[in-house]
Amino acid sequence: MRRPGQFKMVLLGESAVGKSSLALRFAKGQYQEHAESTIGAAFLTHTLQIDSDTSLKVELWDTAGQERYHSLAPMYYRGAQAALVVYDITNSESLRRAKMWVKELRQVNAGDMVIGLAGNKADLATGNKRQVDTREVAEYAEENSLIFMETSAKRGDNVTEIFMNVAKQVAAK
Ligand code: GTP
Ligand code: MG
Repeated sequence: MRRPGQFKMVLLGESAVGKSSLALRFAKGQYQEHAESTIGAAFLTHTLQIDSDTSLKVELWDTAGQERYHSLAPMYYRGAQAALVVYDITNSESLRRAKMWVKELRQVNAGDMVIGLAGNKADLATGNKRQVDTREVAEYAEENSLIFMETSAKRGDNVTEIFMNVAKQVAAK
């Protein structure tokens, strides 16, 4: 069971959707234009002040999205109180993959886990790059009790916000 003051969270999603970039933005406020694809998984922590007298340390496992690492994922999501599943708004295939992760998490954790869904690379929404409709995903998220936001690790939009909303829901459990 969760010890007070900290919780385990896992980042899941197809390769190159921006999981490591979201983690770096969240934990350090930084962004790298040419991030390297994660091998295995990376671990980082960051403490969030969720209200004036409560802080929560997020113990974050940033998994590798490449298909050959898929079988490792249960090692990271098992025992996690929360997950952030990430897709790329310019890649509809990555949303399909995200939905598969949500399904797998719900099957394993029987609805217990707080799950966020991040539509990342929102900075690319202008022009004709967008492949995923926001409203459709919002409906899907609603039906599946997911905390949904479009994010940009590049600009920082909604990054703290989505982690904060997930943490608050974990704390309220
Ligand atoms: P794996 O580790 O292979 O699973 O990939 P990942 O999901 O960790 O993706 P990563 O963070 O390495 O980002 C992949 C590429 O997308 C990098 O070149 C990033 O710079 C770029 N990227 C990440 N987030 C954003 C974003 O919000 N906007 C834009 N425009 N590019 C982004
Ligand atoms: Mg990565």
